[in-house]
Amino acid sequence: MWFKIKLYILFLFKSTNKHGVHSPFVFHLITKCFNRKTDLSQKNKFIKVKKWLLKDETILNVTDFGSGSKVFKMNERKVSDISKVAGIRTKNGLLLIRLIDYFKPKSILEIGTSVGLSSTALSIGNSNAKIISLEGCPNTANYATQLFERFNLSNIEVVTGEFNQTLPNIIHNKSFDFIYFDGNHTQKATLNYFTKCLKTTHNNSIFIFDDINLSKEMHQAWNIIKEHPKVTVTINTFYWGIVFFRKEQNKQHFTIRL
Ligand SMILES: C[S@@+](CC[C@H](N)C(=O)[O-])C[C@H]1O[C@@H](n2cnc3c(N)ncnc32)[C@H](O)[C@@H]1O
Repeated sequence: MWFKIKLYILFLFKSTNKHGVHSPFVFHLITKCFNRKTDLSQKNKFIKVKKWLLKDETILNVTDFGSGSKVFKMNERKVSDISKVAGIRTKNGLLLIRLIDYFKPKSILEIGTSVGLSSTALSIGNSNAKIISLEGCPNTANYATQLFERFNLSNIEVVTGEFNQTLPNIIHNKSFDFIYFDGNHTQKATLNYFTKCLKTTHNNSIFIFDDINLSKEMHQAWNIIKEHPKVTVTINTFYWGIVFFRKEQNKQHFTIRL
């Protein structure tokens, strides 16, 4: 906890807004996407799904991965509780919609579906994109699939299984325009998925890592990712680490307050 507070104070000292940015690419992104209001119909659609999830008392028998949840003691969990704890924050969900709307990626991969809230944002951002979302827990994946049917989010395919099993098959010989990393927040797993997914990138691919300041090891993982030779521009928004591979940009790391 203290580590996170320390990182947040450091973030506040280092961070800037559009006025401290001299890269036209990043300046444009801040002014035309980060600082823009989310389209009202997209926002309402997202809020409708979020409200549905936060009200849903359905109990799922959840398969836990890794060392188990720090929050949940039992594997029987209410959808409303899962959404509160694991689901994307509204502010980030709306930003995800704007980012997808801004960059218009056609092929999107999400690592970590849970009950489907961030996938919903991805789908609302571009209903023409093909979205593949990976989830290990069969009951959770099943719930998310039904949620997408209920809300007509027909461009999301959920692939069920442990990431180490599903990821290599999904990325084999494929290229992705956008990957959202939000599962298994350990340094080892994050770097493993990052290295594997690097093979899918092209010049305009974008990676987003959730919770880069969740822990010391996630912070270290983020620092290692930033230094990778293929990575050029990065943006740290405290919760997210956004990665670009654009060769026309000099390597430069931005810390931006949203
Ligand atoms: C933080 S939640 C995802 C939240 C979701 N992106 C959202 O914002 O609504 C992470 C999900 O990844 C899944 N997960 C974690 N480690 C996994 C692994 N090694 N293999 C498969 N699934 C895993 C968990 O079951 C959990 O549902």
